[in-house]
Amino acid sequence: MITFRLNGRNVTVGGPDDAPLLWAIRDDAGLTGTKFGCGIGQCGACTVHVNGEAVRSCLTPVSSVAGQSVTTIEGLGGEHVLQKAWIETQAPQCGYCQSGQIMQAAALLKSKPKPTDADIDAAMAGNLCRCMAYVRIKKAIKLAAGVKA
Ligand code: FES
Ligand code: FES
Repeated sequence: MITFRLNGRNVTVGGPDDAPLLWAIRDDAGLTGTKFGCGIGQCGACTVHVNGEAVRSCLTPVSSVAGQSVTTIEGLGGEHVLQKAWIETQAPQCGYCQSGQIMQAAALLKSKPKPTDADIDAAMAGNLCRCMAYVRIKKAIKLAAGVKA
């Protein structure tokens, strides 16, 4: 059994220690906002925060977050500045990648509140969007950060 903080509350999950954190979030905790894309760390759809850092939950063994603080898209609460900017810019298309995109962007703004274009490109390069919504995603990040689009 492994216990960790998930969006501010303790959760305890069973299963093998090397099970992906993504399964614990989706199947054990029932939070389905975090998506399964590739399962091999190549798409970013499963991005969550562990102690404020963006990680790929498909590659993170659940045992490694014992006692740590995990935040998912549900933990942003719907009123996060990025979520508001996402709505204002109508950034998503199908939406599948968007939880991961927002969580990645949230980690970026935490470390660099006024990111440059290069900062955004570097931080977001591992988050793929099959709908090619990249231009609107970048616009939303800049809107949230209050930097010139
Ligand atoms: S599902 Fe984790 S990076 Fe693609
Ligand atoms: S909005 Fe469809 S995959 Fe990104």
